[in-house]
Amino acid sequence: MNVINKVGIDKISFYAPKSYIDMVELAHARDVDPGKYTIGIGQDRMAQPAIEEDIVAMAANAAYQILEEDDKNSIDQIIFATESGFDYSKSAGIYLHELLNIQPNAKAYEIKQACYSGTAALMLACDYVRLRPDRKVLVVTSDISRYGLNTGGEPTQGAGAVAFTVAQNPAVLAIDLESVSVTRNEFDFWRPDHHAYPVVEGKFSTELYLTLFIETIDKYAELYPERLVELQALVFHTPFTRMGKKALQAYLEKEETALDPQLKNELLDRWLEIYDNSILVNRQVGNIYTGSLYLSLISLLVHGESLKVGDKLGLFSYGSGAVAEFFTGELQAGFKVVVNKKSVYELLDRRRKISIEDYEALFDDVLPRQETYHIPAEKIDFPGFYLAGVDGYRRQYGYKPAE
Ligand code: CAA
Repeated sequence: MNVINKVGIDKISFYAPKSYIDMVELAHARDVDPGKYTIGIGQDRMAQPAIEEDIVAMAANAAYQILEEDDKNSIDQIIFATESGFDYSKSAGIYLHELLNIQPNAKAYEIKQACYSGTAALMLACDYVRLRPDRKVLVVTSDISRYGLNTGGEPTQGAGAVAFTVAQNPAVLAIDLESVSVTRNEFDFWRPDHHAYPVVEGKFSTELYLTLFIETIDKYAELYPERLVELQALVFHTPFTRMGKKALQAYLEKEETALDPQLKNELLDRWLEIYDNSILVNRQVGNIYTGSLYLSLISLLVHGESLKVGDKLGLFSYGSGAVAEFFTGELQAGFKVVVNKKSVYELLDRRRKISIEDYEALFDDVLPRQETYHIPAEKIDFPGFYLAGVDGYRRQYGYKPAE
């Protein structure tokens, strides 16, 4: 077998639920200064999925946009990364295999390590394609981020999916072999099986994120100094959009790192300058857990006007519990065509704003724990894939064509 290096993200797209709330309105409803949400946390809007927008429907809607006949025949694996799974045995990827009409001999499975699992899937996919260059892998990340109404985590909720294909000679981003990862058994955010929402140690989770960012980037600086200085921008897992900036500032302030202080200042200036481009889309959606890093990548690619083919990016992936990885990639010739601003904003602009009252009602409108339940047809008012209900505990999906 021939091992090749130029493998990575070939096509990429996302899906954001049809409804969102305005964070200033949420702040007023919670008697909080709006600046805390819009500046301190850094969110303008927060996606709230409807009952029919489950993780499979959102993932199918994200992936559907990028798959052509050739992809469907070349995809050997569907890796579904999520921490919002609804079944301990059957993978959400199997529904996608059918809905997206992927060739019958493909494998489908689910993968989990909190928000890191999208990156675990990407790395697995790259290794698979490096060994089988004529084949492809479909990675989907799909999550509903929920902490509960009136909780400390409420302003950092969200929902959505990002899908990407991994192929040789990719159009968007070639992933480099060198990376630094770290695993630490910690309890910053986790969801025991009898909990509807995660247990979260909010402050500790942000501290751990910062610690593991500094640990991985600094190790990378020590191992591959000549590669680090090439990076034009960094992209972060974004549980809320201030988080990445806090990470950059924490590294800037950290004494005794592997980098010469003068060089570190220069690099941090460069990365801080471009940072806001990588969070503009996330500001409109909120946390989407596994897909959050890849939504930031989309945001950077459509807003980072200065970026050009051949530029190197650094990516920081973090999953509570905790696993983190700092890795890099090189922008490829098709990145501006594949990820275009118009289609990104069409997706965001098609949404509707709902009141805080309607958000609270929607929040509680979840699939009842009964054997058979059909979601009322009048709720299906947006085109695309949707959850139709359950029949004998079997999830059923439908597709509503655009009018
Ligand atoms: N104007 C401007 N800024 C304001 C302000 C105002 N009026 N009021 C407060 N702020 C600032 C605060 O100073 C603070 O800034 P710093 O971080 O720079 O100190 C910021 O707003 C947030 O305020 P608090 O720290 O008081 O917020 P909080 O205690 O209510 O909780 C949180 C924030 C911990 C993120 C909480 O929302 C939470 O628990 N979220 C879920 C967990 C999470 O997202 N963790 C992130 C790391 S874990 C991870 O990445 C995995 C994952 O996806 C979950």
